[in-house]
Amino acid sequence: MASTAPVPEGSHITICEVGPRDGFQNEKTFIPTAKKIEIVNALFASGLRHMQVTSFVSPRAVPQLADAEDVLAGIDRPEGAHVTALVPNLRGAERAAGAGVDAVHTVVSASETHNLKNVNRPVDQSLAEFEAVFYTLGKAGIAIEGGIATAFGCPFEGIVPPEQVARIAKRYQELGASSVSLGDTTGMATPLTVKAAIRAIREAAPGLEIHLHFHNTRGVGLACVMTGLSEGVTHYDASVGGLGGCPFAAGATGNICTEDLVYLLQESGYESGVDLDKIIDAAALTQEVIGRPLPGQVLKAGPRLKRHDPNLTVTAAG
Ligand code: COA
Ligand code: ZN
Repeated sequence: MASTAPVPEGSHITICEVGPRDGFQNEKTFIPTAKKIEIVNALFASGLRHMQVTSFVSPRAVPQLADAEDVLAGIDRPEGAHVTALVPNLRGAERAAGAGVDAVHTVVSASETHNLKNVNRPVDQSLAEFEAVFYTLGKAGIAIEGGIATAFGCPFEGIVPPEQVARIAKRYQELGASSVSLGDTTGMATPLTVKAAIRAIREAAPGLEIHLHFHNTRGVGLACVMTGLSEGVTHYDASVGGLGGCPFAAGATGNICTEDLVYLLQESGYESGVDLDKIIDAAALTQEVIGRPLPGQVLKAGPRLKRHDPNLTVTAAG
């Protein structure tokens, strides 16, 4: 079994904000392009530097992200910004390269049924088409994070064996991916399945950097982050306010929430470079634009040491 060491306290943990992609893609009402840009800029202002800003997918499949080029053209990119976008095929890779992303997140599912639902082709066909995707992006000098959806379970097939995930990770490594991202599409990951998938990949594709993408569908998203940290993983996706979900996976709900993750990391002795008050402000803006309460908890409660005015709280006088 490949060896693992926990991430030492004090280390920098990279948070990749995926709200503008994973979050917005699941919203029925079209969010005006200018509002998307305003939210992305507020997220960058909180100190976040890694962000999946949009998708280059079929506008018929995901009408919400049909404005991908316009969003990328409109955002401010602070020093050190690492802008990525999700891409399922060669057409998406060409569009992403033209729009000036720093990296691309490709997507294939570990389970056949979800891959058919999500990108309308078998897993091995996606992997075969990635050869042209990698060639095109490689020529343009754009790094590729190999995304694997349903990595911890499939809403249609149930258990996804870690070997199935490791096989795809190994293929990504052969193609030249800079990292692999394990997507927990419908929040089926648990501490045990997280550990098993990480170890299977380290065995099959030694040296390949692993990123983790959890959804909080069953309330254990942040527990899975703690497992990831204990297994040495330093990259986590999260979504502002806890937005998120895949329209092509039954029962999908929000990602782990960015400000909740920032709070957890800060209170666990890790450093993310994100200012908690500013990310709460960005979450409040996002909530206002979306127009309904978002699931994030720190957004509602505020930081741990927020002081409340005793004069504004009722006294239980007997
Ligand atoms: N960007 C824009 N348009 C695209 C595209 C892309 N990346 N890929 C395909 N298209 C267009 C084609 O040009 C074609 O348009 P036309 O009918 O006007 O000629 C149409 O979409 C169908 O193309 P085809 O290659 O046959 O695709 P498909 O119908 O088999 O669908 C995908 C495959 C991958 C394009 C589609 O399933 C998809 O976009 N999935 C993404 C799902 C997603 O984002 N899920 C959430 C994230 S995990
Ligand atoms: Zn997701």
